[in-house]
Amino acid sequence: MREINKVGVVGLGTMGAGIVEVFARGGLEVVGVETTDEYAERGRAILQGSTDRAVAKGKLDEAGQAEILGRVTITTDFADLAGADLVVEAVPEIMSLKHEVFGRLDEIVDEDAVLATNTSSLSVTEIAAPTRRPERVLGLHFFNPAPVLKLVEVITTLRTDVAVRDAVVAVSERLGKKPVVVGDRAGFVANYLLFGYFTSALRMLEHGHVSREDLDTAMRVGAGLPMGPCTLVDLVGLDVCHHIGEVIYAHSRSPMHAPSAMLGRMVTAGLLGRKSGRGFYTYDRPGSGKVV
Ligand code: 3HC
Repeated sequence: MREINKVGVVGLGTMGAGIVEVFARGGLEVVGVETTDEYAERGRAILQGSTDRAVAKGKLDEAGQAEILGRVTITTDFADLAGADLVVEAVPEIMSLKHEVFGRLDEIVDEDAVLATNTSSLSVTEIAAPTRRPERVLGLHFFNPAPVLKLVEVITTLRTDVAVRDAVVAVSERLGKKPVVVGDRAGFVANYLLFGYFTSALRMLEHGHVSREDLDTAMRVGAGLPMGPCTLVDLVGLDVCHHIGEVIYAHSRSPMHAPSAMLGRMVTAGLLGRKSGRGFYTYDRPGSGKVV
């Protein structure tokens, strides 16, 4: 098994840019790839903003920030991924798009390199199937915000090589993360349970059983969670939550995942949470966490 020192990340949205930061902070060389200059710039801005915040809080000095950013190359050229030991795909949750990305990676990246997907709920087995190396493909699922939350789910399929799994567990530990190894079923472990909870919570709101503030307070203060469900769905994105919930329900048919009609209506109305400036709460501007 080759050592993992150079990493590629495909897709530099909130999750992808956060994953780039995690690897760069861990001392690895990272190549982040996007499809257009505009998206590449957005990824660079997320990385800059997140490390600026750490500097402003005195958690990182400017030399440390320069070192982290110096390990990162952001590009729109897939060919720059050649030589990567591990590539993590973090593009939108559309199977045909995942297949396109994995097809390109199969051509560019060395045969003994590992390909990982950060999918939240899609089948890792299905993503891996068309590649020439399904035994070197697994899921590496980070949680939002990726630079902060320690958990990573390492998702193995029936084909994943044990040595590949162990290498990815080892590199996750090197990054200061807490890896757990889980099988490939919709939602894996954390999202399967979390999204059942979201759906139950939103149904209480939908039925007028409780206000959004009291719902959040109950779970934050009563259950000791860092955020209540409405605040957390706003952070993750209502569209993302709606999509993940639908995929899990389509596979599990478990009543606890039956989609919330209210969530669907809010997504259609463009209320996507923090990123659009309004979700369950209204924020002072898109992207902000400050409720008005
Ligand atoms: N990027 C980088 N760093 C961030 C950040 C971000 N987006 N948001 C917060 N931080 C950092 C802060 O800088 C701060 O760092 P410090 O401790 O070094 O000073 C630290 O996180 C704590 O932030 P704050 O003091 O501003 O606020 P909180 O203490 O309220 O923490 C939180 C914020 C970490 C988001 C916390 O509220 C939390 O853990 N919430 C729950 C998040 C959660 O459950 N996520 C999982 C969602 S499901 C998922 O991701 C699955 C996927 O498939 C959809």
